[in-house]
Amino acid sequence: MGMTFERSPGAVGSSLVLHSYNVRICHWINVIAGGYLLLSGIHIFLDFPELYWGHTGYQGYPALFKLSDWGLSWDEAGALGNRMWGRNYHFTFAWVFLINGLVYVAWSFARGHVRGRLLPGRSELAPASLKADLVEQLRGPAPKRAAATTYGPLQKLSYSLLIFVFVPVMLLTGLAQAPAFAAAWPWLLDIFGGRQSARTLHAAGTVLFVVFVLVHVVEVLLAGAVNRVRSMITGKFRLPEEGM
Ligand code: HEM
Repeated sequence: MGMTFERSPGAVGSSLVLHSYNVRICHWINVIAGGYLLLSGIHIFLDFPELYWGHTGYQGYPALFKLSDWGLSWDEAGALGNRMWGRNYHFTFAWVFLINGLVYVAWSFARGHVRGRLLPGRSELAPASLKADLVEQLRGPAPKRAAATTYGPLQKLSYSLLIFVFVPVMLLTGLAQAPAFAAAWPWLLDIFGGRQSARTLHAAGTVLFVVFVLVHVVEVLLAGAVNRVRSMITGKFRLPEEGM
C-alpha cells in the first residue's frame, strides 16, 4: 500500500513529496467550493427553514424539523438568509465542485491513487483493525501518527465513503430538488420518495459534512498541523526523527 511513499532506511529526518500536484490542487479547490456550498446552502435553507418528508411541504404542514422550535422564527430566519445570493453561489460552486471532483477522481483512478492510497484493504476493514485504529485515534497525538506517510484504516474508510458515497448522494438529492432535472429524470424523485425527502436528506448530509470537516481538521492538527498542511500545499513532508 502506498509503496512509493514508504519511509526508506536513510530517509530519517529528511523530506519527501507526500501529495501529488493533482491531490493538492483539487483538495484546495474543494475546500473553497465546499465552503461556498455550505454557506450558500444555509442561505437557501433560511428562506424556508422547515424540513418535511415525502412530496409535500409548506408552511403549516406537519414538519419533521422547524427552526422556530429552536428559537428562530420564520421571519427572523428569512431576514438572516439571502436566497438569491444563496442560489447563485450554490449552483456556481456545485459546478466547480463537480468538475474538480471528476478531474480528481479520474486522475486518482488513472494513476492508481484510489487503489494504492485511498481504498482500505480487506484486512484493514476487519473489525479488529478498525477498533485498534479507533483506540489509537482516541489516545490523541502520537509520534507514529505524526510520522505516518500512508493513511490509517479509518482515514481511508472516511475518505472513500466521502468521495464515493456521500458526494454522489448529495449530488442526486440536490438534483432531485431542481424541477427541470426531476422532470427529465422522474426516477430521481422515486428513489428518495419525493422532493421534500430529498431536501431533508440533503440537509442531513450537510450536518454530516460539517462533522467530517471538524473531525478532519482536528485530525490534521493532532497529526502535526504545520507539516501536514505544508505537505498538502507544497507537497513537502518532513519525516520526523525516529523515536520522536
Ligand atoms: C481548512 C480545511 C482543511 C484542511 C486544513 C485540510 C487539510 C488536509 C490535509 C493536511 C490532508 C492530508 C492528510 C495527510 O497527509 O494525512 C488532507 C487530505 C484530504 N482532505 Fe482535507 N483539509 C481541509 C478541508 C477538507 C474538505 C472541506 C474536504 C472535503 C470536501 C477535504 C477532503 C480531503 C480528502 C478527500 C483528503 C485525501 C486526499 C487524497 O489523498 O486524495 N478536506 N486534508
